[in-house]
Amino acid sequence: METGGEPLAFMTAKRRSCDNTHPNCFVDRTHQFSGTPVTSRFKMPTGTTVDALKGTKSPRLADALQSARTNFTNANPRSFQSHLQATKFFPGGNTRTLLHSLPFPLTFKAAHSCYLTSLDDGTYVDFCGEYTSGIFGHNHPTIKEAIETVLQTGWNYGGINDRESELARMVCERFKLDLVRFTNTGTEASIMAIGAALAYTGRKSVLVFSDGFHGNVINFPVPRPEKSVVLPHQFIIAPFNDISGTDQVVLYQPADSLAAILVEPVQGAGGAIPATSSFLQYLRNLANSTGAVLIIDETMTSRLSYHGQARKMGVQPDLMTLGKWIGGGMTFGAFGGKGRIMEMFDQDNGILAHSGTFNNNVFSMTTGIAGMKIYSEEEVERLNGIGNGMITRLKKLLEQYGVTGHPCDENAKGINEVCPSIRLPRMYVSGVGGMLAVHFSGPEARILKSLFFHHLLQHDIYIASRGFISLCLDITEEHVTKFVEAFEKFACLFQDDLRFCWI
Ligand SMILES: Cc1ncc(COP(=O)(O)O)c(C=O)c1O
Repeated sequence: METGGEPLAFMTAKRRSCDNTHPNCFVDRTHQFSGTPVTSRFKMPTGTTVDALKGTKSPRLADALQSARTNFTNANPRSFQSHLQATKFFPGGNTRTLLHSLPFPLTFKAAHSCYLTSLDDGTYVDFCGEYTSGIFGHNHPTIKEAIETVLQTGWNYGGINDRESELARMVCERFKLDLVRFTNTGTEASIMAIGAALAYTGRKSVLVFSDGFHGNVINFPVPRPEKSVVLPHQFIIAPFNDISGTDQVVLYQPADSLAAILVEPVQGAGGAIPATSSFLQYLRNLANSTGAVLIIDETMTSRLSYHGQARKMGVQPDLMTLGKWIGGGMTFGAFGGKGRIMEMFDQDNGILAHSGTFNNNVFSMTTGIAGMKIYSEEEVERLNGIGNGMITRLKKLLEQYGVTGHPCDENAKGINEVCPSIRLPRMYVSGVGGMLAVHFSGPEARILKSLFFHHLLQHDIYIASRGFISLCLDITEEHVTKFVEAFEKFACLFQDDLRFCWI
């Protein structure tokens, strides 16, 4: 038990009322977790997804989740049918693993502004924001106009188009890159940046970090899965945000073996965990002293600062990867940076080739230009303001409910929800600006996370089922308040489960 200093909030906080009389916390009828066994009209799908119900030691939470799933299934019969139909052709019923959630994911049929409409006619405020790509909302008039110009001028030229170099100019000027190349996805951008670093240095090893995500074939979750589709490069995995731990890992590498260091300024898929400035600076120095290429993956974080998040933190990359929002909502990726590296892709130098049928697709080039104009420096700041305000409100609420857990700086450590040695609060919020995540820790983390996802759906709010949230430009303070109120209801309903702390 912690001794001395301030008493911990969870020790002093009184249980807060959670009935209909609580001003911000009512238990609506559909949300009374009665523990109804799942004998609904539908057979609940099972599968290889780790089911939050498995392994829980709390019958009360298990009942709550069963009940939430039953309600969800009964309320969304068309999505359920759509999922069943999809399983005939897609393994698992989807073509993006992370979109799956139990008992089955919602299927959407339409969207506008920051709202999504499901097949079952449910309308949800979209707090997922297409995992940071959907920053312009679902039908921004300027993006629509850009698409309409493509409808007029046609597409699939099989040649250079009159828009690609304009987007290249905008990207290079904004992110201070000497030269850039476009791809279709962030994954391809990572693949190309690594390939460039290997060719440039003539070395093989790539230093990456625990819970780092750079694409479907370049990611390093903790714990490591037994099998994966990660590329067979010589990846050296070091602990994120841990300078001495990384030093230890690097110490054991042969001299002159490190080709690249690949890092996100804020880990996105890893849970919206910001790198510390000292860690990024340390990596810059490490790249300088070893001759490795520092690749900063700003696929998600380029939205957080006008010139990129690493530059805001005072760190200059050798190469930067980009993607997501920069295509204006269309498929996009890019890698670029120092001329001496990127010039390898100049065909006159005859060193490296880079092709891709859709690298300059007219839709992405045109909407990309429109998007770069919309997401001005002022808009970056405005969205950051809304996001930071939301993070502050959520953190404060958890404090009020005594869900502070053991004091720790969750932003300074890599988050490992399954590692009980990291003494995290049972529920906490991390992130920067409009890119944040709600986490759960402890033995019931999985089930609480699933309950939270369903709780928000019941309040017409859609987030990524893993707890990731990204704001789009159409999200207003009113939407944030709606989220905060739903979040408070959850904290109130489950405060007894959330206030236990690992000590
Ligand atoms: C930091 C980061 N890099 C790369 C990628 C891969 O981008 P894409 O999904 O476009 O391949 C992602 C995707 O989420 C990402 O978050």
